[in-house]
Amino acid sequence: MCGIVGYVGPKDCNEVLVDALSKLEYRGYDSAGIAVFSDNEIEIVKTKGKLDDLRNKLKEVGKPSGNIGIGHTRWATHGEPSDINSHPHSGSRVTIVHNGIIENYIELKEFLTAQGRTFLSETDTEVVAQLLDYRYNGDPVKTIDECMADLKGSFALGIMFKDFPDRIFAVRRESPLIVGVAKGESFIASDVPAILKYTRDYYLLEHNEIATLTVDGVSFVNEYLQPIEKELKTADWDEEAAEKGGYPHFMIKEINEQPTAIRTTIMPRIKDGLPYLEENGITPEKLKDFKNITIVACGTAMHAGMVGKYVIEDLSRVPVSVDIASEFRYRNPIISEGDLVIIISQSGETADSLAAMRLAKQKGATTLAIVNAKGSSIAREADMLIYTLAGPEISVASTKAYITQLSVMYLFAFELALAKGTVGKAEIERLISALMKMPEAVQYVIDNCEEKCKYIATKLVAAESLLYIGRGLDYALSMEGSLKLKEVSYIHSESYAAGELKHGTISLIDDGMPVIAVATQTDIIPKTISNIVEVKSRGAKVILVCTDACARELKEGIADYVVEIPHSDEMLMPITAVVPLQLLAYYTSVNRGIDPDKPKNLAKSVTVE
Ligand code: AGP
Repeated sequence: MCGIVGYVGPKDCNEVLVDALSKLEYRGYDSAGIAVFSDNEIEIVKTKGKLDDLRNKLKEVGKPSGNIGIGHTRWATHGEPSDINSHPHSGSRVTIVHNGIIENYIELKEFLTAQGRTFLSETDTEVVAQLLDYRYNGDPVKTIDECMADLKGSFALGIMFKDFPDRIFAVRRESPLIVGVAKGESFIASDVPAILKYTRDYYLLEHNEIATLTVDGVSFVNEYLQPIEKELKTADWDEEAAEKGGYPHFMIKEINEQPTAIRTTIMPRIKDGLPYLEENGITPEKLKDFKNITIVACGTAMHAGMVGKYVIEDLSRVPVSVDIASEFRYRNPIISEGDLVIIISQSGETADSLAAMRLAKQKGATTLAIVNAKGSSIAREADMLIYTLAGPEISVASTKAYITQLSVMYLFAFELALAKGTVGKAEIERLISALMKMPEAVQYVIDNCEEKCKYIATKLVAAESLLYIGRGLDYALSMEGSLKLKEVSYIHSESYAAGELKHGTISLIDDGMPVIAVATQTDIIPKTISNIVEVKSRGAKVILVCTDACARELKEGIADYVVEIPHSDEMLMPITAVVPLQLLAYYTSVNRGIDPDKPKNLAKSVTVE
C-alpha cells in the first residue's frame, strides 16, 4: 500500500525523503514523488515507476533545494499508475500525500466541480487537496479539522500549506501514521522502518488527531482542536533489523531469521515448563468458559489459523471455525457473547481484519489479537493481545511472521487445553519441551534442505501450473506453500486436500505437471502415498516433503524428488515442514528473475478493502 514520509529539519530534504521512502518500498508501489519547500514555493517532482525512476527524474529536472517536505510511494487505487496520478497532489495553496481511500470522493468532486474547481488526475487524493484549498481559512489546523468532517473512509495525510513554509502537518483516520522526533528535526512516516536511520523515538498518531511539525518540535491537537500530550514511544527494532544484512533479498534473510524469531516469541511465554500467557492477560479462568472460537485473518495469517484450528480442536475439543476476514465481515457471522474471536495479522493494519475484529466486538465476542507490528490498530483495539516477536518483516511474502504465528497458536492451544482440563499437565509439558526444540529443528532444515530445494526449484521454473496436496495438518500447510509459490513466482498453483483430488481436480494432471506433496503425519502417510501414486501414474512429477522416517519406508520411484525433514512431535511438524516450501518458492522466484520481496500487484500492508 502507499507509503507516506515527511521531514522538517536541517538536512537536505530530497535525500531524507527518498531514503525514507526506500524503507517503505516493501509495502508495494507503482509510482513515487516528493514535494519540497524551496524558496517558499512548493516544488513537486513525481513519476510513475520505482524510486530509481524518481531519482533519475530528480537528476533530470534538478533537485528542489530545501529542508522541509513530504514524499510518497503510490499503490494505485483510483486511476492507473501514471505521472499525473502520482502523489503529491495540489490545490493551489495546499499540497498533500495520501494513503488509504476517500469513500465519498465522487460526491466531493461533484461539489467542488460545481464551485468551479477542475481536476488534473483521476485520484481521490486530488479531491482532498482541492477540498483543503477550498476550505482554507488562513489557519491550517482548523482547515484540516473542518475537512476531516467532510471526509469518509480510512486515510492518512501529509500536508503542506504554501503560506506556512516552516512546517508540515499530518492527520489520520484508520490508516497508520507515526511522527518521529530527534533533536532539531521531525518526521512523519507510514511505518517505523522509514525513520530508524534517524531516530527510534516516535509518537503514534491516533484517529483524527492533527500533528504540526516544525524545527522547534511537534505539537498535537485532538479533533476538538484541544492541544494534547502524547506518549513518546521508542522502537525496539534497530536500523539493521530492517536491512538485508548481506542477503540478496529480505525473503531469504527472513527465512534464515526463523529460528531466532521462534525462540524470541516462545521463550518469554514459557514458565516452569508450561505455557505462560498471563502477562498477555490470558489466564485459565478467562479461557475455560469459551465454547466457540473463530479465527479471522487474511492470506498467510489465515493459513496459520488453519493450523491453529487443527491443533486447538485436537487438544481442547473446542470447535474452531476459520474465516477469511473479507468474508466474515460481510456475512452476518454467528458470533455471540461468550465467544472468542482470534485475529491474526502481521501488520496489525489489514483493513478487513481490523473491520472483522470490530464486528466481533460489536457482537459481544471477546477478541484476542496475534499481531507482529507493535502499537498497530488491531493490537490496540483487541481485548487480549499476544505479539509475535518476529521483528520487522519487510518482504511482501510472509515467512517468519507465519512461523511465529504458528508458535503462538501452539502456546495458546496448550494453555486452552490446560484450562479446559482436556489434556494433562505432563502431556503439555512434553509438548512445550518439543516446541522449545523447534528453533534448532528449523535451523537443521535450513542447513540441510536449502541446496536440495534450490536444485528442485530449477525444475519448477518452466511450470505453468502446480498442485500442492496433503491431509490434515499437511493440507493446512499446503495452502501456505501454494500461496507462497504463486505470490513470488507468478506460477499458478492450488492446494488440495489429497483425498479430494479424485473428485475433480485430478483431471488437471498432465504429463510433467509438478505436484508438491506434504506427508508428515504418520497415521495418514499411507493415504497420502496412495494419492501420490494416483497422480504419478497420470504423469505428475512429484516432489515429496516428508519426515526422514517416512522417506526410509518409501518405495523406489514413488516420488521424483524427496525433501526429508527431521521427525519431531507430529503436531508441531508444520513449523519445520513449511521451511522447504518457503525455500522452493524463493528459489523458483529468483530463477524466474522476479524480485520475491516486491511481487507485482501486491502490497505488504493491505490497508484498503
Ligand atoms: C503473505 O505472504 C501475504 N503477502 C499476505 O497473504 C498476508 O499474509 C495478508 O495480506 C495478511 O496480512 P497481515 O498478516 O498483515 O494481516
